[in-house]
Amino acid sequence: MNPAEPVTDIANGQTSGTARDTLTVTDNRTGKTYEIPIKHDTIRALDLRQIKVDSGDFGMMTYDPAFTNTAACISRITYIDGDKGILRYRGYEIDELAEKSTYLETAYLLMHGELPTAPQLQEWTANITRHFAVDDSVKKLLESFHPDAHPMGMLVSSVAALSTLYPDAKKIFDANSRREQTFRLIGQTPILAAFAHRHSLGKPYVAPDGNLSYAGNFLNMLFKGTDKHRTDPALERALDILFILHADHEQNCSTSAMRGVGSSDVDPYSAIAAATAALYGPLHGGANEAVLRMLVEIGSVDKVAEFIKHVKNGEKKLMGFGHRVYKNYDPRARIVKNIAYEVFDIMGRNPMIDIALECEKIALNDDYFVTRRLYPNVDFYTGLIYQSMGFPVTMFPVLFAIARTSGWIAQWVEMLADSEQKISRPRQIYLGADKRGYVPMDKRS
Ligand code: SDX
Repeated sequence: MNPAEPVTDIANGQTSGTARDTLTVTDNRTGKTYEIPIKHDTIRALDLRQIKVDSGDFGMMTYDPAFTNTAACISRITYIDGDKGILRYRGYEIDELAEKSTYLETAYLLMHGELPTAPQLQEWTANITRHFAVDDSVKKLLESFHPDAHPMGMLVSSVAALSTLYPDAKKIFDANSRREQTFRLIGQTPILAAFAHRHSLGKPYVAPDGNLSYAGNFLNMLFKGTDKHRTDPALERALDILFILHADHEQNCSTSAMRGVGSSDVDPYSAIAAATAALYGPLHGGANEAVLRMLVEIGSVDKVAEFIKHVKNGEKKLMGFGHRVYKNYDPRARIVKNIAYEVFDIMGRNPMIDIALECEKIALNDDYFVTRRLYPNVDFYTGLIYQSMGFPVTMFPVLFAIARTSGWIAQWVEMLADSEQKISRPRQIYLGADKRGYVPMDKRS
């Protein structure tokens, strides 16, 4: 084929690129050759369906368990370079946003694609703050849980319950309805989280205070009237930065759940409940809780080497280490580590940091971790900060969910606007039983 000739993209009939932007595939079962267009360094899986042995065949598919090498969407929200340890929201480097932005400003950026002007930020903040109020029915729902109920289970349930209060949320293609649900979700998620925590303490709810910052109000609702109550602005700033770091992370497990569940055109509250449930898992957002439990299990610096042995023989995982995308230091982990020392200056040094540092020191020099490119991820140090700030370990994934709410919504809105997206429904390779007749009970062995 002439490399200069334009190529027709079989799947949607668009001519794009040149013959150089194609994959030439020969099916050795038939000797046939196919030209598959390459765009954005990918091929469309549908373009493989033409590859058949017999004309009646279904055609070729790709097989990619856990989607380790499959792009499920085109996005313009978050960019990650796993080898270089780069993370950018809408083109802005995460460390610059952590230093100069606030969580609500970052949430605006994720949602709208641009940093807000002062009036835009003021309106955005006011709209979120006016939605701090939670309906009494949801407050009662939270009170119905056992005192030792895990707050992530309470958050999943109460966010889903919001879908019963706002039937207009089903108008997912109405921009005004989406705006209202966005304000409600970013506004009410921390309120639900604070109520869940107060319920676990057996203490009365603290009413939200719109005069405080987003993080400040949250801290006040959690700790007011307890010995953990601190009004130090540096703690508020530390939590706000942690919210920025956790706001989005492209197509991670919980965002894929948000997009997958949202692709059925369900309301955003139900989709976010599913995303929150996905985040709860210890391999994902639940890892920050699992890290603290691991450090407590290790118990002391001199026991770390023994624990690492169990990790290397496959009995345990070093929680907070490793990442599907980052094969270098997670850029967020570096920022979190610095915040940890700032919080320790206020709240006192968390002794667990010594065990964590020993784990990191050994792992970064041990062939098992180096060859597998396992580095600390965002969850490795965050738990130490949260514990020092007075949060119980069960609240750690809840803090992650509060921050990620803005990312989930931004990704959901982008999916709805994407004309190529439709209900998510992967295929399978069937290797089960072939056709067989029903066996009467008396004939079964
Ligand atoms: C988050 O995707 C995102 O973007 C997520 C996130 C976000 O912001 O949304 O960044 C947030 O979820 C961070 C990750 C938090 N989870 C943990 O810290 C849990 C511990 N980490 C692992 O479970 C694991 O590293 C994952 C789940 C994070 C990634 O798993 P992968 O990409 O499927 O890697 P893998 O399991 O195939 O591991 C490759 C090898 C295996 O060894 P071999 O079979 O090759 O011998 O590395 C080993 C694994 O056993 N390995 C680990 C390990 N992580 C991977 N061995 C020990 N301890 C670990 N933590």
